[in-house]
Amino acid sequence: MSEKLASDNLLSRVQEFLGDDLQAVEDEFHRELKSRFASVADVLTHVTRFRGKRLRPILLLLSASAVGKVNRNHRTLAAVVEMIHTATLVHDDVLDDAETRRHVATVNSRWNNETSVLFGDFLFTHAFHLAASLDSTFACRAIGRATNIVCEGEIQQVHERGNFDLDEAGYLEIISAKTGELCAVSCLLGAYYSEADEAAVQSLDEYGRQLGIAFQISDDLLDILGNEEVTGKSLGSDLDKQKLTLPLIRLLGQSSEPEATRIRALLSHPDETSRRELRSLLEQTDALEYAQRRADEFATGARECLNALPETPARRILESFPEFAVHRAF
Ligand code: IPE
Ligand code: IPE
Ligand code: MG
Ligand code: MG
Repeated sequence: MSEKLASDNLLSRVQEFLGDDLQAVEDEFHRELKSRFASVADVLTHVTRFRGKRLRPILLLLSASAVGKVNRNHRTLAAVVEMIHTATLVHDDVLDDAETRRHVATVNSRWNNETSVLFGDFLFTHAFHLAASLDSTFACRAIGRATNIVCEGEIQQVHERGNFDLDEAGYLEIISAKTGELCAVSCLLGAYYSEADEAAVQSLDEYGRQLGIAFQISDDLLDILGNEEVTGKSLGSDLDKQKLTLPLIRLLGQSSEPEATRIRALLSHPDETSRRELRSLLEQTDALEYAQRRADEFATGARECLNALPETPARRILESFPEFAVHRAF
C-alpha cells in the first residue's frame, strides 16, 4: 500500500473509532480558549484554521480505550495536551524563524514575535487552568513535569546549536525530551484515568516515548527531504539554525578528518550552495538510510510495548501508529 493510502486509512480508522470523542475534545479546546478580546480571538482563529494531525489527543484517547473506557477526564485532558503541543509550536516557530505552519502563516510572521510569545503563554496557562478542573491533581502534576522536560529539551537544543560534535546519544536525549515526553504523558494519562494497573500505565508511557522519538527522527528527515506543500510548514530550518540531526551526525561520524572539516565548513555557512553539497553528501552515503533505520527501530520498540495489553480494537490502531510516524509525508 502507498504511504498516502496507508496514512488515509489509519486516519479514517481513528475517525470512525473516536469521531464523537474527538469532536468533544475540539469543542472543549475552543470553549476553554474563548476570549472577549478580538485580538486574542483573531490569533486563535488563525492558528486553528487548519487542524494538525491531533496525534497527542488521539494517543490519549486510544490509550484510554485500550485499557478501559473513554470518560470526561480523558476528553478534557486530550484538549489539554493539544493546547500544550500548540503552545510549543507557536514558540518553536519563533526559535526557528519559521514562516508557515499548518498551511498558513506562523503567528510570528502574520503578527510578530511578541504576539507569539504571549499567545504561546496564553495556551500554556489555559492548559493548566483546564487540567486543574479535574477532581484529581495527578494530571496537573504529570503534565507539569512533562512540560518542564519539553522546555528543557528545547533549551538544550538551542544550547547545542552550532556544536558539530553532538553525538547520537546527545541528539536522542534532546528529542526524547522535546517530543518523546509529551507523547509519553498523553498515553500515560489515557491509561491512568482508565484505572489501568501500574504495568499497563508504564507500558503505554514507554510506547508514547518511543513513538515520539521515532516521530521526531522522521520529522528531522522531512526537514531535509520533505515537501513544504505537503507538510504545510517551513522546512530546512534545522540546517539554517545549525541544529545537527541524525543524518548529519551519521555523516560526520562516518567521515575522514578532511571530509569532516569540509562538512563542518558547509554547516557553518548554511546557504543554498552548502545545502546542495550537503544533500549530495548525504545521498552518497548511508546517512539517510541510517536515520530511517533508527526511526524504524524506535517504531518497533514502541509497538512491542503494546504486547502485554489486552487484544482490543484500540490496541490494534495503536499498533499502526509507529508505522505511520516513520513513513509519512506530512
Ligand atoms: C510537529 O508536531 C512538531 C514535532 C514534534 C515534530 P506535529 O507534526 O504533530 O504537528 P501538527 O500538530 O500535526 O501540526
Ligand atoms: C519540534 O521540533 C518542536 C517541539 C517539540 C516543540 P521541530 O522544530 O523539528 O518542529 P517543526 O519541524 O518546526 O514542526
Ligand atoms: Mg521548528
Ligand atoms: Mg522539524
